[in-house]
Amino acid sequence: MSRRRATRLGVLGPAALLFAAASLDFVPHAAAEYADVVLNKRAEREGVRPVVFPHWFHRIRFRCKVCHSELGFKMRVGSNDVLMSDIIDGRFCGACHNNQIAWGPERCDLCHTGKPGLPSGIYGGHETGGPGRW
Ligand code: HEC
Ligand code: HEC
Ligand code: HEC
Repeated sequence: MSRRRATRLGVLGPAALLFAAASLDFVPHAAAEYADVVLNKRAEREGVRPVVFPHWFHRIRFRCKVCHSELGFKMRVGSNDVLMSDIIDGRFCGACHNNQIAWGPERCDLCHTGKPGLPSGIYGGHETGGPGRW
């Protein structure tokens, strides 16, 4: 660290360090952080609408590792094989959408909101449309 920077940090004190730490946390890793992810590997084939997963909405509430390590969601769109039976058994989305942490799996209409024909992928950029927009 240069002497000048050290001095400035010294003057601003812990508040500046806190701010620096907070901004680091917001460095974007991928567009998905700020967007919606459509999951449609099986949904439409099995007669329901594609799923719109508001990634940003979740990302600001939970740490990445909750989903991408503890719940086993691979960090690549379309790479996860999610069955409704898994969700009802408390895996993947069902770890939270269980009527305890969040509303439960019987609310089909809140997850299966994608417009028919929508392929799996990331929709939106620095915004999240939420359910039903895509
Ligand atoms: C918390 C979100 C959520 C809720 C609520 C939900 N689903 Fe799903 N569902 C998903 C996800 C995610 C997938 C995987 C989508 C894909 O990759 O095609 C899926 C897949 C499916 C599939 C295809 C795979 C399979 O297991 O056959 C069907 C059919 C399905 N859901 C029906 C329903 C019905 C009926 C309800 C309500 C009783 C419901 N879902 C409620 C998230 C949800
Ligand atoms: C509530 C669960 C949850 C949280 C929290 C979460 N993600 Fe995700 N993430 C998902 C799901 C679900 C997908 C889509 C997987 C699929 O399509 O099969 C995804 C997809 C991704 C992708 C894939 C994008 C692409 O281009 O293929 C990346 C990268 C990613 N997440 C990064 C992160 C990072 C970084 C964080 C924390 C800052 C985070 N996620 C937090 C559930 C989550
Ligand atoms: C780590 C916990 C967690 C996981 C995993 C998770 N969710 Fe959620 N989700 C929540 C919470 C908490 C809410 C807010 C519930 C509320 O407002 O009552 C929520 C809200 C939502 C909403 C409504 C967003 C809005 O704008 O109101 C949708 C849609 C949704 N989840 C879909 C999914 C789908 C699809 C999956 C799996 C791909 C998933 N969630 C996985 C915790 C989770």
